[in-house]
Amino acid sequence: MRLQINKSAIHIIQGDITQQNTDAIVNAANSSLMGGGGVDGAIHRTGGPSILAECKEIVKKQGRLPTGEAVITTAGNMASKYVIHTVGPVYKDGKSNEPQLLANAYRNSLTVAAEKKLETLSFPAISTGIYGYPVDDATEIAFRTVIDFLREHTQIILVRFVLFDDRTFSSYQQALTRLRAQIYGEE
Ligand code: APR
Repeated sequence: MRLQINKSAIHIIQGDITQQNTDAIVNAANSSLMGGGGVDGAIHRTGGPSILAECKEIVKKQGRLPTGEAVITTAGNMASKYVIHTVGPVYKDGKSNEPQLLANAYRNSLTVAAEKKLETLSFPAISTGIYGYPVDDATEIAFRTVIDFLREHTQIILVRFVLFDDRTFSSYQQALTRLRAQIYGEE
């Protein structure tokens, strides 16, 4: 399923982000950038040691990555050229600035991609796994942040949300259906 924002498209698919051939894939990392479980583990496993080597350089230079910020490294052995590492918020109660920090993670990842002149990138469902963000709330924030960014920046022509499990994929499908009605209904 897709949504068109000017000349840019938003796609959702169910699959494995390490297998995507977009210019960059986004990693739901932690501040240490030393890898972990979930999608972080999959990306480091599939991309190989060159990713961790670049992450170590970054941490040596600028320290741990604050929540909501994003940095870029090689994608190593994967089809995509780059990995954009971002740190989503750990969900507590929804009143500890989590919504803003999650939006920052999406927006800063898009900004890093645009600065690198990339045109296509894939996102996982940041913070909705180990970090416990309620899926439906996180999906709304993901779409709203990406749509607002694409309305202002024509550099990025494709954003692909790559959802791993059925529950998350159906949450994105429902949100996309609602948004299409809203956006196309307005036109
Ligand atoms: N491709 C796409 N999505 C994936 C993949 C994959 N290969 N593997 C897992 N996911 C999905 C999960 O199912 C979840 O929907 O990514 C989403 C985010 O889950 P996590 O990877 O747990 O990320 P997050 O909730 O942001 O927690 C980050 O987990 O792995 C550690 O080091 C990481 O400490 C950090 C924390």
